[in-house]
Amino acid sequence: MTKKALITGITGQDGFHLAELLLSKNYEVVGMVNRQREELGNSLRKDLPEVIQVRGDLADSTSLNGVIAETMPDEIYNLGAISFVGLSFKQPELTSNITGLGVLRMLEAIRSADPERKIRFYQASSSEMFGKVRETPQNENTPFHPRSPYGVSKVFAHHACVNYREAYGMHVSCGILFNHEGERRGHEFVTRKITSTIAQIVLGISDKLVLGNIEAKRDWGYAGDYVEAMWLMLQQEIPDDYVIATGETYSVKDFIETAFNLVNIQDGIERYVKQDPQFMRPSEVDLLVGDSSKAKRILNWTPKVGFKELVKRMLINDLQLQAKIHQIDLQDVKQIINLIDQ
Ligand code: GDD
Repeated sequence: MTKKALITGITGQDGFHLAELLLSKNYEVVGMVNRQREELGNSLRKDLPEVIQVRGDLADSTSLNGVIAETMPDEIYNLGAISFVGLSFKQPELTSNITGLGVLRMLEAIRSADPERKIRFYQASSSEMFGKVRETPQNENTPFHPRSPYGVSKVFAHHACVNYREAYGMHVSCGILFNHEGERRGHEFVTRKITSTIAQIVLGISDKLVLGNIEAKRDWGYAGDYVEAMWLMLQQEIPDDYVIATGETYSVKDFIETAFNLVNIQDGIERYVKQDPQFMRPSEVDLLVGDSSKAKRILNWTPKVGFKELVKRMLINDLQLQAKIHQIDLQDVKQIINLIDQ
């Protein structure tokens, strides 16, 4: 029988990869889109026309009740959130409302629509919850110490999920995902900012890369690998929480150096990187590195794309995109791409 999945945050990076994966598994995929994201919804309609789009907002319980009652999915993946940590310092209430309370609204909507507890729910928890880390590497038992309004909201949402699982026997699983990037990453995130600006530098369109703290270290994986873990979590009879990570950590500086090296630019950091305090955060997460051995053991999940390959994919994608935007001959760009691909 065809399974039906509802995805919130369908217009984001993970929403796209997950929808693609579920469609390949013959799911009927329903994506929830809010009014502010309508334009992105229209472009998603071109890329993935099979996805049925419904209007709903994590800030509004009535709309969530309606969407769930109308669709009655087998699985719900809650990827919707204000997901940019930097912005959360500027809009802490909005972040708490969507990223934190929005999850509680979803859980309540499911609880009343599904008394038989048939719906399986996935919550996008985050490694930002570890914040000022208490141990390294971080696993499912590492205490949380969030360092941003975003992290605080994710901790609230995570605890709410565990509570609804324990209190009401709901099938709720949380994936504690470490940073995951790719060709569809938003430009406000550091990896995409780096690869798109370096692509511009290579093509002579830009001459500086303006960043904040480049010493921060992250465990960076590929988004396409991580959505597979989300799906696997909901295929388990027993709901649970899992850390999803590569187990390797690199600084922002390492990311920049790797990207410059790939396009054969020496001393790229000295020549092009400028620091601007506006990109610094009031409190920073200095180091993240995850231990995903539980996911490996129980879900049989391991990441496939390594760090260098990730940087390569993002850089090639941005070179092609920038060439298209600026009407640069693709033949010229192909030579650079061949160099990266060696
Ligand atoms: N965005 C951004 N822009 N970050 C910068 C910049 C800049 O110009 N310069 C330095 N950084 C540093 C940030 O201070 C942070 O330490 C690091 O680069 C990564 O920042 P982001 O790419 O914005 O990601 P994040 O780690 O804060 O959060 C991402 O990963 C979380 C999982 O740990 C987001 O995807 C979250 O939604 C996700 O939960």
